[in-house]
Amino acid sequence: MSILSASHLSKTYSSGVRALDDLSLDIQSGEIFALLGPNGAGKTTFIGIIAGLVKKTSGSATIDGYDFERHWREARTRIGLVPQEIHLDIFLSAETILKNQRGFHGKRPNPRLVEKLLKEFSLFEKKDEEVRSLSGGMKRRVLIAKALVTEPKILFLDEPTAGVDVELRKDMWNTVKRLKDEGVTVILTTHYIEEAELLADRIGIINSGRLILVEEKQTLMKRMSEKTLDISLKNPLPRLPEHLSMLPLSLSSDGHTLTLRYSAGERNIPALLTELEKAGISVEDLSTQETSLEEIFINLTHKSETV
Ligand SMILES: Nc1ncnc2c1ncn2[C@@H]1O[C@H](COP(=O)(O)OP(=O)(O)OP(=O)(O)O)[C@@H](O)[C@H]1O
Ligand SMILES: [Mg+2]
Repeated sequence: MSILSASHLSKTYSSGVRALDDLSLDIQSGEIFALLGPNGAGKTTFIGIIAGLVKKTSGSATIDGYDFERHWREARTRIGLVPQEIHLDIFLSAETILKNQRGFHGKRPNPRLVEKLLKEFSLFEKKDEEVRSLSGGMKRRVLIAKALVTEPKILFLDEPTAGVDVELRKDMWNTVKRLKDEGVTVILTTHYIEEAELLADRIGIINSGRLILVEEKQTLMKRMSEKTLDISLKNPLPRLPEHLSMLPLSLSSDGHTLTLRYSAGERNIPALLTELEKAGISVEDLSTQETSLEEIFINLTHKSETV
């Protein structure tokens, strides 16, 4: 069953920017969905519309069967949001913020849950301090705990790990996995493909307000598992040797580097190196790179323009 169903959502800001362009998307209950996209793609706008912070221009959405505008109260209590920007009442303590948040959502006090979350996010020792005296990373922890304290069915995490340290990043990942085990649906935005790779069941890619691809992670990863191998040569080559020209190899303009593009598992690299040796080409060094998210975007947006 779809827990979130967005249909033809569009948003044009008063500035004229079309931030979201006819986005339709169904999210299944209990799945982890990663929305990937470059800066300005429309990720925060999409989340903002669903969470009732941004007014749509057109389209509709239901949350757990409730229309997000007509039945906004029912819809809203099912949503937890960890915003990209830190908005907190800095004169309150973390504990007070969590307690108040339950109240705002019309939920009964639950001191045990508040305590559990404070501990889970290493805030317990500072629970009585005003939030303004906490570090940026700790404020972010408060934001996450605040979103979870209302026990949402759908949690939106808008770039949860941008600019946070390794420890918080790991805590976040563990939290997301635990929530999944508890049946919570998680929608997260990120620039990091590794993060999507680690956590998501499905991945959506958004670019210039348009959802250009939605795919099972496994399928996407297989399709995108392109790597490049840079082979530095001891002696520059004037041109690519004839018998190597059937390979997806390119030679740098200075003749010093051969670059091979391949999919993981598809090429036999040692065999290629033996070929080079046979041809009298001495290799000085090797380095491989995974295809970056940027390259994936370039690939996809290029394809979506030429289709
Ligand atoms: N309040 C606003 N008023 C006018 N334009 C806006 C507003 N908020 C966002 N935009 C514009 O809408 C587009 C989409 O922005 P949005 O914040 O949704 O992107 P994003 O994918 O979340 O980007 P990022 O990865 O940088 O967080 C951008 O061109 C942005 O400048
Ligand atoms: Mg954003």
